[in-house]
Amino acid sequence: MAAVKSVFVCSDCGGQSAKWLGRCPQCGAWNSLIETVAAAAPRAGVRTGTGATSTRHAALAPASTVQSLRTVPAKTQPHLPTGIAELDRVLGGGLVAGSVVLIGGDPGIGKSTLLLQVLAHLSTPGATAMQHAAASAHAPALGPSHEAGGQREKVLYVSGEESAAQVALRAQRLGLKDNDVRLMAEIQLERIIDALGAEQPDVCVIDSIQTVYTEMLTSAPGSVAQVRECAAQLTRMAKSGGTCIVLVGHVTKEGALAGPRVLEHMVDTVLYFEGDTHSSYRLIRAIKNRFGAVNELGVFAMTERGLKGVSNPSALFLSHHGAPVAGSCVLATLEGTRPLLVEVQALADTAAAPSPRRLSVGLEPARLAMLLAVLHRHAGIACGDQDVFVNAVGGVRITEPAADLAVLLAIQSSLKNRPLPRGLLAFGEVGLAGEIRPAPRGQERLREAAKLGFSAAIIPAANAPKNAGSRFEGLALHPVHRIDEALDIVRSLQG
Ligand code: TYD
Ligand code: MG
Repeated sequence: MAAVKSVFVCSDCGGQSAKWLGRCPQCGAWNSLIETVAAAAPRAGVRTGTGATSTRHAALAPASTVQSLRTVPAKTQPHLPTGIAELDRVLGGGLVAGSVVLIGGDPGIGKSTLLLQVLAHLSTPGATAMQHAAASAHAPALGPSHEAGGQREKVLYVSGEESAAQVALRAQRLGLKDNDVRLMAEIQLERIIDALGAEQPDVCVIDSIQTVYTEMLTSAPGSVAQVRECAAQLTRMAKSGGTCIVLVGHVTKEGALAGPRVLEHMVDTVLYFEGDTHSSYRLIRAIKNRFGAVNELGVFAMTERGLKGVSNPSALFLSHHGAPVAGSCVLATLEGTRPLLVEVQALADTAAAPSPRRLSVGLEPARLAMLLAVLHRHAGIACGDQDVFVNAVGGVRITEPAADLAVLLAIQSSLKNRPLPRGLLAFGEVGLAGEIRPAPRGQERLREAAKLGFSAAIIPAANAPKNAGSRFEGLALHPVHRIDEALDIVRSLQG
C-alpha cells in the first residue's frame, strides 16, 4: 500500500508540522505533536482520519437536515442481553447495536475470558431467543434477524494478542462448545475493517485496541496516534454498519486506560474491570454509559470454568473475624443501585519518622487527611504523631463521601485499641465543621444491613426514617448530627 501522507498536529494549539519535533514550532509546547492522517489524502474506499473535514464526512453518511426536536421520534435503544446477568446490569440491559464499548483492566484480570464467554453465548443457537422472550417486556429485540426467534447472533472475535490456536484452547478450557464464534487473528486495521464489511457481525470484539495499527500512520501500534485513529475508524464502522464493537483497552500502571483520553470520549460506554488479581473476585464498573446508569457494579468470581456472576454480593467484602477486632468498622455503601456492606479497616501506629504517614487503599487518600483534622478539631482526638493506614477489604474501591463516618470510627477504634461493638455499622459524610451529612438512599442501605443481621447502625440524623412504620427488623438506629455524638454512642455501646 502506498504511503499515505500524515502530519503531526500539536495537541495544544493545533499547529501542524511535516515531521515529528520535540517542541511545537507554533506554541512552543513540549512533546505535544501527535501524528494524524493528513486531511488532503482521501482515497476512494478508505475511511480517513480523526481530523476529518466536512467533505470527507459527506462521503460516509447522508447529509443531515435541520429539523425541529419535537418532530424527531424518540427511539429507545434496544439492548441485546449478553447472557451474563452481572454484565447486563453494568451495560444497562445489554449491548446496543451500532454502539462502541471500551473495556479496560489490568493484564490477566479476565477481559479476554469474559468476552469470549459472551460471544460464545450470543452465537449459541436458542440461547438468546429465550432471553429475548424474557427481555421483550421492556426492550424490543435487536434487528430483524430476531423476529423468527431461536436465532443466533453473528459474532466476530478479532484477536491481536493471542493466536487463533490459543483462543481455541481457551474456549476448550471454558467448555464452550456448539458456538459459532467467527475468529480472526489480525492486527491490521484495514483488514479488520474489510472483514467487518464482509462478515457483517452483530457483535465484534477487538482484543485489544492497543495492538491494532493502520498503515496510514507511521507511528508504532499502541501509540497515541494509532490508538486514536484506529478507534475512530472502528467507531465510524460501528455507527454505519450497526455492529456493536467491543474494544479491549490496556490500563497504565496508574490504572487509567492507556492511550489518549479521547478514546473515552469517542466510545458510548466505558467499563473498568477491577479487583485484586490475587482474590477470585472481579468487579466491573461502568464509568460512562450512554445507554444506562453509571457506577453500576457487576460482581464476578473467576472459576476454573471462566467468570461467573455473583448475584448476591453484599456480604462479599466483610472479613469474618471470630471475635471483634479493633480498627474495623462496617460501612453500608451504595454501588449504583446496589447496597454493599464493606469492612473498612484502620491502623494507627506511633510514627517512626517525624512526618507521619497517611495511606489509604480503596478509599480516597485526600479525604483521609481531612478526616484526621476533623477528628482532632471537633472530637479532641489527636493523631499527629501516628501513622494512619486505612483499607477497604476485598479490593473494592469506594469513592463516595458517605464512607467518612465508618473510616473515622475505625481510626478511633484503632487509636483506643478497643473493638467496635459486634453487629455495628455506620455511614455518613463528615463535614469540615464536624457535622454528619446525609447519604443518598439511606433506607436501602439500612434494609440491606437488617437483612444481613446487623444489630446497630450509626447514621446521619437526616437519614433516620420519618415514619415509625419503616423500622428495620432487629436493627437499632442511632441518628447523629455531629462527630462527637457518634463517638459518644460508640462509647456507650462499648459499655
Ligand atoms: P484473561 O482473560 O486472559 O485476562 P486479560 O485478557 O484481561 O489479560 O485472564 C486470564 C486469567 O484468568 C489467567 O490468570 C487465568 C485465569 N483463568 C481462570 O482462572 N479460569 C479460566 O477458566 C480461564 C480461561 C482463565
Ligand atoms: Mg487478554
